Amino acid sequence: MTAGGPAKVSGIGLGLRAPLADAILTRPPPALRWLEVSPENYMARGGAFVRHLDALRERFPIVTHGLTLCPGAMEPLNDTYLSTLSKFVNHVQSPWHSDHLCFGSHGGRFLHDLLPLPFTHAAAEHTADRLIEAQKRLDVLLVIENISWYAHPGVPEMGEAAFITEVLTRSGAGLLLDVNNVYVNARNHGFDAREMISALPLDRVVQIHVAGHLVCDNGQRIDTHGEAVCDDVYELLAHTLQRTGPVPVLLERDQSFPDWERVVEEIERLDAIWQRATGGPR
Ligand SMILES: [Fe+2]
Repeated sequence: MTAGGPAKVSGIGLGLRAPLADAILTRPPPALRWLEVSPENYMARGGAFVRHLDALRERFPIVTHGLTLCPGAMEPLNDTYLSTLSKFVNHVQSPWHSDHLCFGSHGGRFLHDLLPLPFTHAAAEHTADRLIEAQKRLDVLLVIENISWYAHPGVPEMGEAAFITEVLTRSGAGLLLDVNNVYVNARNHGFDAREMISALPLDRVVQIHVAGHLVCDNGQRIDTHGEAVCDDVYELLAHTLQRTGPVPVLLERDQSFPDWERVVEEIERLDAIWQRATGGPR
């Protein structure tokens, strides 16, 4: 996977996490076609992290998914971060680079959370301007992901889908559509997940995420990435893929790791949905 430019990313991928790395190397199911990595876990590090990544790069195409771009933040972009990020993205030959549509830093302090932006025209313009600046520092397409959010900051001027669309239109960025995040927000805030999917510019979708979430006793959904994917999210994925066409799908599992066999079952179920919905082989 290291010569001749980026390999084709298609079908089902898995987020590379340290507890999963050995199983991915030694017992990968045929349905697993690619891996997603967070550059922040590898940049300026050595040891087992980098050894695992080098071994896996020989077997799988790699796509990068960042945690700290914070495109909606108010401070200037971090030149050192972007320069190191660009080198890493090029090194692993990722065909695009994604991060979250949020802010997570203020006054030079990183808050270690993905905080929602206000759904306003001013926030969309500000975020798009920063995305345009960030895009100039990268050699691949910059892609933004819709996040789970639990309270809107201030008074919205539009709905979430309109906000995402305005940011995409102004910036030219691609969309990483997390269907679990759409579902969690729809259940928590009382809107229809399929209507939101329909309201998004699906021709801009470069990649899809699925994950599991926690259902609290009071019915609130929390985006934990620590549970099995629920049936409703599988159905929403099939609905979405029928409209986007064969977009690559990534399973996120970040904590409470089950036996590898359970992860493989989820990958195989996703692959069956992907093939049925897109009508063709990977
Ligand atoms: Fe996601």
